[in-house]
Amino acid sequence: MFPRVLLSSDALKHNLTVVRRYAPQSRVMAVIKANGYGHGIVPVARALAAADAFAVARLNEAVSLREAGVTHRILLLEGVFSPAELEQAAAFNLDLVVHSFEQIAMLEAWRGAHRFAVWCKADTGMNRLGFPAADFVSAWDRLKRCTAVAPDMRGMTHFATADETDRPLAAAQVRYFSQLVAGLGAELSLANSAGLIGLPEARSDWVRPGIMLYGISPIAGKTAVDFDLRPAMTFESALIADNTVTVGAAHEVDWPSLGIGNVIRRNLRSGAPAVSPDYFAQLPSEADLKWAIGDLLEREINPAVAQHGGWVELIDVRRNNVYLRLGGGCQGCGAADVTLKQGIEKAIRGLAPAVGEILDTTDHAAGRNPFYAPSK
Ligand SMILES: Cc1ncc(COP(=O)(O)O)c(C=O)c1O
Repeated sequence: MFPRVLLSSDALKHNLTVVRRYAPQSRVMAVIKANGYGHGIVPVARALAAADAFAVARLNEAVSLREAGVTHRILLLEGVFSPAELEQAAAFNLDLVVHSFEQIAMLEAWRGAHRFAVWCKADTGMNRLGFPAADFVSAWDRLKRCTAVAPDMRGMTHFATADETDRPLAAAQVRYFSQLVAGLGAELSLANSAGLIGLPEARSDWVRPGIMLYGISPIAGKTAVDFDLRPAMTFESALIADNTVTVGAAHEVDWPSLGIGNVIRRNLRSGAPAVSPDYFAQLPSEADLKWAIGDLLEREINPAVAQHGGWVELIDVRRNNVYLRLGGGCQGCGAADVTLKQGIEKAIRGLAPAVGEILDTTDHAAGRNPFYAPSK
């Protein structure tokens, strides 16, 4: 089996429902720029067909969406940079972010019949794109007077922080933006993923989530699971070898070609523990593991192996290593190793992922499997 990257349209759809849970009153513009954050722009757009609109950074991305049959509103987050691009934006019916006076001049020079849907962008602290406060109102007024611009112009801004580490700054940006657009009577858009999760006041007419749609936590220190987000991309591979290498502290040959051996040896010689004490500190206690594994054996595993006249005993748990013994029909059974690796180990690791080694202490040679029929 080859390593594979798997994309889950179900996960994308689910993550969109999470966005809607946070911002039920807002329309959702799914940000699928940068080739759908690396997931493939067209399959992502298809999976997110329930979004109200899409946002991309570049014209060619928008064109590829239209050519694939996507009919949603598509916003060019950077707008256009030449009259030729403006032509194309008209031909493909794309919404434009306008963030500079050069772009306004291009619209003023437009002589075509198309009326552009424009999102006038204010820079409220990101310092990337947008009109600073001092220019925003005059830019807005010029666009309002421009015959190339459709009358229902919208206002937008973008947060300077992509996570929650500077929530006060984002909250200040919301206040600042509200003052700038007060009285314009326009639809507004502020929040990226972190904003729509962390700042209820940023959930305006339109939200613009990106990263969270792909199942990644937008908030530092929190995981996707904390927000019920599912990964859109997973990887599948096959373990093709499982080798144990023993490295002692004293050895004449320093294995220069075996980098990992050198690293381990250096660590051993330094006297530092091979495994950080923090690792052991966060393990479940031996007593808890004993109880949970004993219970699993009793409830699930032993009733199953009993059908073959066998049983599995928990001998001990030391640190997070588990010692088992197989008895009855399992002792000496040709398939015992498979049962242990595929069935029992899997079940134990599923129950307690922190388990270390699972060691079989059975004396298989002494076993007698009543169901084992040697081939004739
Ligand atoms: C203008 C704009 N809005 C929204 C987003 C989505 O941000 P996030 O991926 O943090 O949700 C981006 C992404 O960079 C963006 O540039």
